[in-house]
Parts: sequence; structure tokens; C-alpha cells
Amino acid sequence: MKPETPFYITTPIYYPNAEPHLGHAYTTVFADILARYHRLIGDDTFYLTGTDEHGLKLQRAAEAKGVTPKEFVDSMVAIYRNFWGLLNISYNRFVRTTDEDHIKVVKYAAEVMYRKGLIYKGNYSGWYCVDCEKFYSASEYLMIDGRPHCPIHRKPLEWTEESTYYFRLSEFREYLLNLLKNKDIVYPKHFRQEVINKIVGQELLDISIARPKERVWWGIELPFDKNYTVYVWFDALLNYLTGINYLSDKERFRRYWSSTHHVIGKDILWFHTAVWFAMLKALDIDPPKKVLVHSFIINKGLKMGKSSGNAVRIEDLLGRYLSSDGVRYLIARIFNLGKDVEVSTSLLDSIYNSELADNLGNLIRRVGVLIKKKLKGTLSSESIDNTLTDKADTAVHKFNKLLGEEYEISTALQEVMGLLKEANAYINSVRPWELSDPSKELYTLMEVVKVAINLLYPVIPESVSKVAESFSIQLGNPLDISVDVGKEYVVKEAPILFKKVR
Ligand code: MSP
Repeated sequence: MKPETPFYITTPIYYPNAEPHLGHAYTTVFADILARYHRLIGDDTFYLTGTDEHGLKLQRAAEAKGVTPKEFVDSMVAIYRNFWGLLNISYNRFVRTTDEDHIKVVKYAAEVMYRKGLIYKGNYSGWYCVDCEKFYSASEYLMIDGRPHCPIHRKPLEWTEESTYYFRLSEFREYLLNLLKNKDIVYPKHFRQEVINKIVGQELLDISIARPKERVWWGIELPFDKNYTVYVWFDALLNYLTGINYLSDKERFRRYWSSTHHVIGKDILWFHTAVWFAMLKALDIDPPKKVLVHSFIINKGLKMGKSSGNAVRIEDLLGRYLSSDGVRYLIARIFNLGKDVEVSTSLLDSIYNSELADNLGNLIRRVGVLIKKKLKGTLSSESIDNTLTDKADTAVHKFNKLLGEEYEISTALQEVMGLLKEANAYINSVRPWELSDPSKELYTLMEVVKVAINLLYPVIPESVSKVAESFSIQLGNPLDISVDVGKEYVVKEAPILFKKVR
């Protein structure tokens, strides 16, 4: 037997200072679709998500609620897990930066780098955004009413001046440029160029990786100086090592690490390339295989976010579209790596109604009802209409290429929708309800349904399972799926999958 190929996929670990919204679901659902797809094609898949629980932002959020940070994050983590459950997120581990094994990894990494002389003591000052947990330079921040503001949150920055420890990021300039220029890690390519330009265009400065405990006490203690806590980003990035047992199972770690795919939003590109690749090098670990970067969901012209007041709530989406599949499909359909997308209820409604309710749902319902009525529920045929089924085979090929090699979930779904549209046109033109024996026509349609649901399985798993069960369709490896002749299908019922919204 061929050994299984590993596939390790991660999301950013989210700040649990507030409930997750559509922006967070965007990344998480996309990563889930890739994880499910890779499991189906036979890869040994590990999907990691989690929460980034330390730092000033969380410390303050807890203070505002009058509870301890740990109590606060525990309650928020329950909310995160609940939402990911409602959206059918198939993660293998939910990592928390307050987990014991993670704390060990962070202390170990800091210690190793300190011993290597890559961490040193110094002072810093600068304009800080607590929401981003990062400093902004004069070329990055916005001046509003004569005061520096965060370019993302548009809130006033805080002047911060204190003693710290630095990580020698500057020493990795040549390594980073070499790596970024010669390896196809960052995808899509224009994001890779963005990082290269930033490194070339400005001095690569060392970064502060510690905070004095008297100001930020909610964090992991720096192992070589107990007066400081580790900076949240240095702490958080290391979760990707914790998740696959970096310190406790070297064999397992090596295996999954070789196929690491980080899914991130473009806001955290710098940390996940320049900073992270240098940290890994400092620990003698290879860079990840891929960093898949997506753009923003925009609402009313601004990046969707809690602090911008334009966040779309996951509950509201689940309430409107009635199933996790509906929401998962919509996210996948609007997903865009390269470009920001503006969302609105009317856009989501129209995709849902025309693609899920009409194109997919109606076809399944009609095919099911016709097989039951005209053929007493049992379908077989020795002949088939190739013009339609050839299109199904083409769709399989295109879908696998788009999703498996180019990570283009939205375009891949449009392929399936194109096929289903053809099937709907076919049913309208052959009018099986008027034929005395529509076996050939319904069999042809059944093969198209089989292909389509197999491809849609990673995106809308519950609906697909329902159809497979109702129509006795076998689900399998999307790479091997093809049109068959001479099979028998027993149709138990004709499910109604998606009810239209108005
Ligand atoms: N905690 C850090 C990540 C540490 S990873 C080692 C963080 N957390 S966050 O809660 O702010 O989540 C950021 C991620 O959420 C983004 O990178 C992106 O993946 C997702 N999104 C949040 N809002 C979004 C949009 N409006 N649009 C698209 N994705 C968005 O940063």
C-alpha cells in the first residue's frame, strides 16, 4: 500500500476578545474545505485551529468585564468551539496558547534563541495598536486630527516606551530574501512580492518580543528574565509547532511539518512570512510549504471587524440560511484569495437562491421524484447520454485542478454549478415526465448528480450525505470520480435540500 501523504493545514489562532464573525468564519471554513478535500483524496490530514489568548488586548477585555483573564478566555473559547461546531468545522486540534504544552514550546523556543545570541535586551518606543497588538511606523499609520491612528482599526495609537528584549530579525535579511525569491511558498504570488518589497525597501529591524510584567502581566513568562512576558505574536506563531507535538513527538512533528499549509488573511502576512520564517530558521526548522493568503471581506466599504461595527454575525447567517451547509457554501462561493469582496444580504441571498435552492436543490428533488414516480424508485440503464456526461467528466478534472492545485474554491464551485445548469437544461429539453420509459435520461441525470455531490462533499457535507443516502450513491475519492454505466440506484426519497429565502 502506498504510504499516505501528510497534509497539515492551519488557520490563524483568533483573539477571543469577542465572538467570531463572518471574517473569522471565512478563513476557518476555507481551511475546513481544504482539510475535508485532502482527507477524501486519501491524505493523512491534520487540521489545526485555536485561540490566541495572551497579551494586553485580552488583559484589558477581561478587566473591562471584571473577571480574570483566564475566566474570560475560558468563557470565550466555549463560544468559539460552539460556533465551529455549528459550522461543522472538522479540526483535529483546537490549540489554546494557555495550554501547558504550548507554554513549554514558547519557553523552549525563547531559551534556544537566547542561547544562540538571537535575543538581546534593549529599549523601545513607538506607536502601538492594542487591537492589532503591533507597532506602526510613521510610513504606516494614519494621521487623523494630528494624531497617529491605526490604518486598520482607525483608532488612536498608544505611545509606548519601555525596556524589552529584541529578536534579531535583521540578521535574517539575506535568508528571507533568498527564500522568498526562490521558493513558491507565499500564494498568490503578488503577496510574496509585497513581502520582498517591504524587506528590500526598508531596513529590516529587530523586533521586540517581550513586555515588562508590570504593564502586560497576562502572558507567558520569559524563561531567562521573570520580569517580562513574551510578546503575543512571538507566543502565537509558535502554536503551529505545538499543534503537532513539536516537543513531545519528533517523528510526528517532522512528518506533518513537511506539508504545512498556513491559511491567513492578508493583514497578518508580515508576521507569517518575515517574522515566522526567521523564527523557524532560528530553531533550525524549515519554512512551511505554503502560506495561503486571502483578502478581506468588506462591509459598507470597510474591512469587516468587531471594532468597525460592521461585523456580520455567524448566528444571523445560520438563522437566515437555516443550515451550516448554506453558510459554508456562501463563504466558499464569495471566497477570494487575491481580491477584497464586498458582502451584502442581497448578494448572499441571490447566490443561495439561484445556486443552492434552484440549481442544485430543484434538480435533486425533480430527479428523485421522477425516479420514484416513473420507475418505482429503481433506476438502471445500459445506455447513457454522452453529451451531458462528458461534461461531468470535464467538471471533475477542472474541479480537482482548481481546488487541489490552485486553491480556487469559488471557481471550482462555479464549475459544478455550470454542470448542474446543463443538467437542468437537459431535463427541461428531454422532458422525462412525458416519456414512457425515461430510464436512459434519468440515469444520465443521476450520474451527473453523483459527480456533482461527490465534488460538493467537502463544502456541504450534510446535504451531500443526505442525497447519497436517499439515492444510494457511493461517495468516494474526488480524484477518481467518473461516470459509470450499468449501475443500479435505489431512490428512497426525494429530499428538499434548501428552502428559498426572501
Ligand atoms: N491572533 C492573531 C493571529 C495569530 S496567528 C499565529 C489575529 N487574530 S484575529 O482574531 O484578529 O484574526 C485574524 C484573522 O481573521 C485574519 O487573518 C483573517 O484570517 C480573519 N479575518 C478577520 N476579519 C476578516 C475580514 N473582514 N475578512 C477576511 N478575513 C478576516 O490576527
